[in-house]
Amino acid sequence: MTLRALHETARRALDPVHYDYVAGGAGEERVLADNERAFDRYALLPRVLRGSARRDTSVDLPGARGAGPVVVAPTAFHRLMHPDGERATARAAAAEGAVLVTGAAATVAVGEVAAAAREAAPGAAVWFQLYPHPRHEVTEALVRRAEEAGCTALVVTVDSPVFGRHTRDLRNGFTDLPPGCAAENMRDLPGAPPGALTDIPMSPALSWRDFDALLGTTSLPVLVKGVLHPADALLAVEHGAAGIVVSNHGGRQCDTVPAALDCLPAVAEAVAGRVPVLLDGGVRRGGDVAVALALGAAAAGVGRPVLWALAAEGEAGVRRVLAELRDDYDHTLALCGGARNADLTRDMVVPRGGTR
Ligand code: FNR
Repeated sequence: MTLRALHETARRALDPVHYDYVAGGAGEERVLADNERAFDRYALLPRVLRGSARRDTSVDLPGARGAGPVVVAPTAFHRLMHPDGERATARAAAAEGAVLVTGAAATVAVGEVAAAAREAAPGAAVWFQLYPHPRHEVTEALVRRAEEAGCTALVVTVDSPVFGRHTRDLRNGFTDLPPGCAAENMRDLPGAPPGALTDIPMSPALSWRDFDALLGTTSLPVLVKGVLHPADALLAVEHGAAGIVVSNHGGRQCDTVPAALDCLPAVAEAVAGRVPVLLDGGVRRGGDVAVALALGAAAAGVGRPVLWALAAEGEAGVRRVLAELRDDYDHTLALCGGARNADLTRDMVVPRGGTR
């Protein structure tokens, strides 16, 4: 089943309000649409007669040596998609060699998510995503939970000083999770009981000083997610970030920013290989992964495709989507005369519709 078919199956299976929560974006959903369309504007110019019978598509990421080039981006509330929720996603990602980024807004606690991943594949890497909390002690408690669970890196999301205005959720009046579904990592921490969508507070006053404070609480590598400006990428490196995720939150925050892919080359140039740069937003096929890597990404994250697969077919669906992306990427690499990810270079990316 193709990703498009899985998406359609998910749409029919889900409560329309929950479907909209995942499918939707902020404002007029211009950025949401642009993230995918950006990939249509690029073509890959293959190299020939430099092939290899063996290809190695693995990549060394913080706390994840030899990972696949496709990472499962952090997305909230997997139990809205399937009763097994993040457990199923974790097993599938581990089995397919993909790093799973589970997050503060998961409906299964990080300890159980990491245990499920290790059960499926002993060396599986699970990262933990968090929003810096206005109260530092809450951030610190979340970091401890991730460390105790055996997470190998943290991802701090910095593109959400305030909540995005999700047009469809506002229209649908979607404010509370259904009974039995909660942000489990927030349980027993100061603040509201974890049952409403907005129970993970945002921090509009956040600064690099808070980032420094977060680094001071942990020896885990910390990636910064939601960077679009190259100057911020540079600051992140200077402040000790272990990696940068170029992302506009899947078009769910500011509806006036560029497509994530369009921000990648300048960020990659600013970072100049000092730390890995990841990209997410609109990645739907192996060729998209190849374009992202050629434009300077070390790996590409996928959000919604994993959720559609989870809703349509549970763990097996997520495995299928991740395997298909990996195999399609590997196939594209072969067709472009590459034996490893680094063989995809920026000169091989040209505008679709002409080679300048
Ligand atoms: C997200 N995303 C997200 N990011 C994050 O840092 N913390 C979070 O809790 C969430 N939650 C979330 C929920 C849902 C339903 C979606 C669709 C997205 C953003 C996510 O990590 C990623 O940036 C985008 O999903 C990537 O875009 P695509 O692959 O969905 O186009």
